[in-house]
Amino acid sequence: MNALTSWLFARRAAARAKRARGEAPPADPPRHIAIILDGNGRWASRRGLPRTAGHAAGAETFRQIATYCRDIGVEYLTVYAFSTENWKRPRQEVEAIMDLLGKYLRESVETMERDHIRLKILGDPAMLSDELRALIDETAEISGRYEGFQANVCINYGGRDEIVRAAMRYAEDYRSGAAGQLTEELFSGYMFSAGIPDPDLVIRPGGEMRLSNFLMWESAYSELYFTDVLWPDFTPADIDAAVAEFNRRDRRFGGIKK
Ligand code: FPP
Repeated sequence: MNALTSWLFARRAAARAKRARGEAPPADPPRHIAIILDGNGRWASRRGLPRTAGHAAGAETFRQIATYCRDIGVEYLTVYAFSTENWKRPRQEVEAIMDLLGKYLRESVETMERDHIRLKILGDPAMLSDELRALIDETAEISGRYEGFQANVCINYGGRDEIVRAAMRYAEDYRSGAAGQLTEELFSGYMFSAGIPDPDLVIRPGGEMRLSNFLMWESAYSELYFTDVLWPDFTPADIDAAVAEFNRRDRRFGGIKK
């Protein structure tokens, strides 16, 4: 058994043990959690593994955390899997991430309806492979058939890019008479995230304290939570800790405390 496989078994066993203990889920989970998946490369390097093994571990962590978020009553989970800037990485690493995304989408086509997980891809699909684009269309079509928990995976996504595209699309509609005076609400409808409520909580594992061009428009009033835990090591207990911290925050949205 290689290092990655034994890690995977241990992780799944720990999740089963947590479920068996029947630990209480956090009360009052936020409606929408967004996560910057960071720390995969360092996680792998610390184990003497190639960076791509870190991404494979990170994909497994995503599966587990998405299921956990659904189970505790979160309605939307948005993750930053591949940014418009990530194309600068070595070709082999980019290909490995794209392969993992393809694998995840193929599995999702088989299981999402059964598991009641809707899936939406946020970002510009133009630079993705034909296969990935077809899978994105297929998962969107399946997601349209039912209600329930929605996972949003940002691929070839950049927050500024999203705003510029929205501005261009609005300008076209305005010119043709299809759109009226611009308001924040109207503009939100031009984003990749149209129809999705803004994230209440943005979590960044991996020790960095920045947003790295993630949901620049949508996170205006999000609570931010940073942790040193590397993404592949992130567990449901880390979600519980972030939610507990979120519930201690005083969200005023620019107003004053009542
Ligand atoms: C950031 O860690 C991670 C990425 C750029 C890729 C994330 C992609 C996946 C987990 C693959 C599949 C995803 C899904 C949703 C199925 P990093 O490489 O920047 O880590 P480092 O800061 O330690 O180098």
